[in-house]
Amino acid sequence: MTNNEKKNNIVLIGFMGSGKTVVGRTLAGLLDYDFVDTDEQIRQVTGLTLPQLFRKHGEIRFRSEEELVVKRTAAKQKQVIATGGSLTPMAKNFDLLRQNGWFVLLSADPQTILSRISRKNDRLLLCGKPDLPSLENMVREREEAYRQTADFIVDTTKMGVEDAAAAIARQYRAYAAGE
Ligand code: S3P
Repeated sequence: MTNNEKKNNIVLIGFMGSGKTVVGRTLAGLLDYDFVDTDEQIRQVTGLTLPQLFRKHGEIRFRSEEELVVKRTAAKQKQVIATGGSLTPMAKNFDLLRQNGWFVLLSADPQTILSRISRKNDRLLLCGKPDLPSLENMVREREEAYRQTADFIVDTTKMGVEDAAAAIARQYRAYAAGE
């Protein structure tokens, strides 16, 4: 990729419950891009939900499936990619996503995240079920790492899905047009 070629995958990063999947799907519709959710790909490839995958085969297997999915996805173009909330810049293959990825951090305040993730109990948080103080620590730590790598940040605490997707689409179009 030369310097003036624009990255044409949009990669959504952020904590569980920040809205990566719902915002990502809407954003992909606005841009007419493919939508890929890496957790959903892992479910399709293994035929297991993430909690089942962990129970049966443990985190190592989850990580290796995630690496394969990320590798395959990073090789394609014009996608909105919702990453799993535990995929941090330290993860293997994160740099592969960077090569053609314009990164958007979805953030939300920990209280909002807690109430969003408590509504559904079929999701797997690697650290178990946290109380608010531990969640605050985790969100802060992960967001610090994420902020360094984000090209754009959207706070979804009070923003609806449509508005968040529209804000990202606007910023991305400006980036792609070279502004
Ligand atoms: C995780 C977040 C999940 C998924 C896995 C672990 C976490 O992704 O990758 O269950 O520990 O933060 P979502 O953020 O898409 O729910």
